[in-house]
Amino acid sequence: MSSKKLSCGRDFFAVPNLAVALENGGKCGFDFVSIPLVHPRYKRDFIFADGSHVRDTISEPLTRNDLVLPSGEWMSLVVGKISPWLNVDSYDENIRTNSEKALFEELMLSMHLNIPVVLVPLLSKNCVNLARCLLSHCGLIKSNQAFWIHVPLTDPKSTLECSDCDSEDTWDWWNKLRTFCDNERRLSLALEIGCAVPSSIVLKRWLGEPVRALVISTDLFIMNRKGFPVLKRCHQELLCHFFKLEVQFILTGASRTENGLQSYYQYLDHLYMTRSVPDKMGAFAKGYNDYLQNPLQPLMDNLDSHTYEVFEKDPVKYEKYEKAISCFLKDRDSSELHEIVIMVVGAGRGPLVQAALKAASKTKMHVKIYAVEKNPGAVVTLRNRQKDEWGSVVTVISCDMRDWKPLVKADLLVSELLGSFGDNELSPECLDGAQRFLKGDGVSIPFQYSSYLAPLSAPKLYSSIEECRERDKKHFLAHYETPYVVRLWNAYVISPPQICFSFNHPKKDINNNRYACLRFRNGEVAATIHGFAGYFDTMLYESVSLSILPEKETKDMISWFPIFFPLKKPIQVCSFANIEVHMWRCSSLKRVWYEWLVTEPERSDIHNAGGRSYWIGL
Ligand SMILES: C[S@@+](CC[C@H](N)C(=O)[O-])C[C@H]1O[C@@H](n2cnc3c(N)ncnc32)[C@H](O)[C@@H]1O
Repeated sequence: MSSKKLSCGRDFFAVPNLAVALENGGKCGFDFVSIPLVHPRYKRDFIFADGSHVRDTISEPLTRNDLVLPSGEWMSLVVGKISPWLNVDSYDENIRTNSEKALFEELMLSMHLNIPVVLVPLLSKNCVNLARCLLSHCGLIKSNQAFWIHVPLTDPKSTLECSDCDSEDTWDWWNKLRTFCDNERRLSLALEIGCAVPSSIVLKRWLGEPVRALVISTDLFIMNRKGFPVLKRCHQELLCHFFKLEVQFILTGASRTENGLQSYYQYLDHLYMTRSVPDKMGAFAKGYNDYLQNPLQPLMDNLDSHTYEVFEKDPVKYEKYEKAISCFLKDRDSSELHEIVIMVVGAGRGPLVQAALKAASKTKMHVKIYAVEKNPGAVVTLRNRQKDEWGSVVTVISCDMRDWKPLVKADLLVSELLGSFGDNELSPECLDGAQRFLKGDGVSIPFQYSSYLAPLSAPKLYSSIEECRERDKKHFLAHYETPYVVRLWNAYVISPPQICFSFNHPKKDINNNRYACLRFRNGEVAATIHGFAGYFDTMLYESVSLSILPEKETKDMISWFPIFFPLKKPIQVCSFANIEVHMWRCSSLKRVWYEWLVTEPERSDIHNAGGRSYWIGL
């Protein structure tokens, strides 16, 4: 079949000959077909209204012969559809019981055929029994079979002209189902695009959901002057938003042009191929989208060479440091005869030493640089660079900055000990130790940093946390009270970030414990909170700054992704409701840790009490 980039399937209402359907679909460029698992006319009654059972008397086969396709094609080219007439949540017991039996029969068949994806229609918020059936089936299967819950993007009652007249929130249908199913990770979404286009906030919320496919009808297309199908601008824009989630498409409905079905496929492919693609940095970072990583602990652990190499690829961070150091040097009186003492504390393999040397050369200032590093592996690199590149202007000190007893004092301390949440790599504790050797009028670069929090809906991340359980030897919920570094992608920030903790250097108060209570207001749509996104910004010198906050992100900087503080149990929040979170930074002689708690709209318990699941070693 087609090897084009857009993955698009062709939907069939009924398939008399599957091999022919596949061949015709392939000729039009389609990558797979979606077909009813059982013929639409074959409605089965297992139980009559009087209670008697009839199923056993039927000797006809349930559906087509699996021999019509080799198993490899069943496993790669077919999406199976559950019969639309099933209503396992009907109030009529007869309908409900029949539907339930038929549903299990179809699910079993899909499992027998190894069909990778099953499309399950969700027709209303009344879905408790559907959730129960799906969850019990998921417990049976050992394969990676996925269930795409087929939901309209907007209520089918709403139109382009009237998007909210008496309409239901279809996200709520899905939210109920996945909540009942305990966020089962095999359940994801196939959203059916209708005439109406959702508001921007509703769309953002959908973009935070695990959307795998868009179902689009030929009815939605209009014909251009040459008789080719095209979409209205509002629908084009809508699809472009979903391209970022790398969704697949399913085209449904009859062709309405003599140019054939392939013209629909070609148009969708054209939209996809002409979408805006990420730049070089975006392409590099793409591999990290929604990928949970344990935060680094550069104080307790020694980083390896590869990790330093990744840091050093950042095209922006070191330029900003060089600029900050240059500004500092320019502010010093150039008539001063003594050389300016710069101490790079936590020098790694030397990129900040290099930045300081460049700044000195550009500003024509005399400097003496001490490169202090506690990682013996990185010290090997520093000593080599000192010998081969830098010469006597640089002295390498192999020591923990908290223990070093220098003979001179520094005019400038340069450090980069920051994590995704600012202070989470223990910059405050390390710099408290180092400020002893800063002159009275000495300066620290950075001189300030702050962390931020925002409530986050991130079902995909929440389900991936479950997979961290294997690696985790601590108590059974430890992986839900541990923060993760992650490039947030398939997630929805419910309310803008607010400042949490701030640190200034040098400082008099060396108590680095903190507490913050933050109050957010949800917008006009209900949402599910799976945790909190953490960010930071830092002031290096004067106005030179770095930030990973979404609204003032330092362009092209790749050194930090946000951090995610999960909740053990997701919390539902209504529109315009308050969200209140409490965050603590706590410490003992050997450890620092965070604890967090939600008190509105619902109470959670205290996460990571006493640092039982996650801590940072001092
Ligand atoms: C985030 S890395 C930054 C390295 C380098 N400055 C860069 O920008 O590529 C932090 C470095 O500080 C070092 N470090 C952390 N705590 C330290 C301490 N207390 N004393 C000395 N070095 C420390 C780590 O070993 C690591 O090399």
